[in-house]
Amino acid sequence: MTSYKELGLVNTREMFAKAVAGGYAIPAFNFNTLEQMQAIIQAAVETKSPVIMQVSKGARNYANGTILRYMAQGAVEYAKELGCENPQIVLHLDHGDSFELCKDCIDNGFSSVMFDGSSLPYEENIRITKQVVEYAHAHDVTVEAELGVLAGVEDEVASEVSHYTKPEEVVDFSTRSGCDSLAISIGTSHGAYKFTPAQCTRDPKTGKLVPPPLAFDILHEIEKRLPGFPIVLHGSSSVPQDEVDTINAHGGKLPDAVGIPEEQLREASKSAVCKINIDSDSRLAMTAAIRKHFDEKPGDFDPRQYLKPARENMKKMYIHKIVEVLGSNDKL
Ligand code: G3H
Ligand code: 13P
Ligand code: ZN
Repeated sequence: MTSYKELGLVNTREMFAKAVAGGYAIPAFNFNTLEQMQAIIQAAVETKSPVIMQVSKGARNYANGTILRYMAQGAVEYAKELGCENPQIVLHLDHGDSFELCKDCIDNGFSSVMFDGSSLPYEENIRITKQVVEYAHAHDVTVEAELGVLAGVEDEVASEVSHYTKPEEVVDFSTRSGCDSLAISIGTSHGAYKFTPAQCTRDPKTGKLVPPPLAFDILHEIEKRLPGFPIVLHGSSSVPQDEVDTINAHGGKLPDAVGIPEEQLREASKSAVCKINIDSDSRLAMTAAIRKHFDEKPGDFDPRQYLKPARENMKKMYIHKIVEVLGSNDKL
């Protein structure tokens, strides 16, 4: 058993309370590689932001749980080495799909876990979330739950359509499950294709796809019923057009990729939404830089030659999100 406290990590309790009260959101960046982790920590330190480093079940299998534990400890020490006296870093399991997986993460240094029972029947979702909460709270680990289904792929959970969270269920669900935060469905979805062209309109000037707005009415109704309770938004990448264009200009093929407009995320960050999940934008930033590098310097084959610009490009994106969208800068 390794407690996250031995690694220098924190849980989300205090961080979320401050974010809800302060009208900003904590960035939750998914990572799989050393370069992503380095870029996340550099960005968080430079902007003085708390940060959640999160891994999916697939990411944990890819990187290896033992390595991840030491990477998280390394992240804390690296932040200190970069000059941050009191780093506020969470290691979070994203979309945990069983009690056993959540327990294994808690036993191996995670300070926060998500149990995603959104595809289960309501009572089953409460039952397993509560089981996770009981184990997690005994170890001072915080738990995110999910109610409502996002369209797209949620790790092993896939759905063709989204089912918005029903505001009338949130009080009963959070009270009976005991969760510390709640992921809701208001129109976001995972990946780089959040809306089909048929769901969008076209900007007559640029020809680019304009997605439909998020269901802010549902978010506000949930806030009214659960005042001050931490709300989480998944699927919140914006799929920057310049990165998509770079990828497509250098041999990639991402036609009609579309994300959530930043103005809407900015607005959500000011509400009870206190955690915003971003994975695809990091993947795009990395891929764009690597594709460009390969195209322009075909003779390069040392991974450092192309991973360095990839890391820089991700760091730039993380800083932009923190400062220009979520507003979590200058909070340490
Ligand atoms: O919610 C999904 C995240 O983007 C993680 O994706 O399961 O491919 O690691 P992944
Ligand atoms: P994106 O695919 O929009 O980056 O969402 C990531 C996410 O929600 C991880 O849980
Ligand atoms: Zn997600």
